[in-house]
Amino acid sequence: MDILSELREGVLSASAEETETIGARLAAALPDNAALALSGQLGTGKTTLVRGIARGLGISGSVTSPTYNIYTIYQGMRQLVHMDAYRLGDAHDLDSLAVGEFLRPPFLVVVEWPENVPGFFEEYPTWRLRLSIAPDHRHRIRLTQG
Ligand SMILES: Nc1ncnc2c1ncn2[C@@H]1O[C@H](COP(=O)(O)OP(=O)(O)OP(=O)(O)O)[C@@H](O)[C@H]1O
Ligand SMILES: [Mg+2]
Repeated sequence: MDILSELREGVLSASAEETETIGARLAAALPDNAALALSGQLGTGKTTLVRGIARGLGISGSVTSPTYNIYTIYQGMRQLVHMDAYRLGDAHDLDSLAVGEFLRPPFLVVVEWPENVPGFFEEYPTWRLRLSIAPDHRHRIRLTQG
């Protein structure tokens, strides 16, 4: 089955490595004009998934959570803009950062904690994923929109 169909049903991942592989496959399947919103509690694997997305885009450097600089840009087949909105309170913060500029090719914006920036994606096609921990401790990744 293709990765998007799998994710619509919900994929269970038994390791960070598996989650990275899912991210890499997802990156290859995404259309050029799409952003990604990653929802899920602390430690459910959002940043781990981004690491895989980066790998899928041919980005070789290390990907860490951009908590202290809001977003990080990586140069790959697309320019990956990894944003962590965990500490962002209101839209005012975003306006001053001009991050809306990234909602177009060749950028791929991936946002952790998108609930904190509800207006950010506006009309731009956004694929929404939800991560959670299953009762057997595996990490569940599900595409809820897109
Ligand atoms: N199947 C799995 N998928 C993803 N991560 C896993 C898995 N199993 C164990 N882990 C571990 O869980 C942790 C997930 O951390 P990660 O930083 O990716 O979460 P996060 O959702 O980005 O959290 P935060 O909201 O704090 O940014 C890592 O330490 C990772 O190694
Ligand atoms: Mg994270």
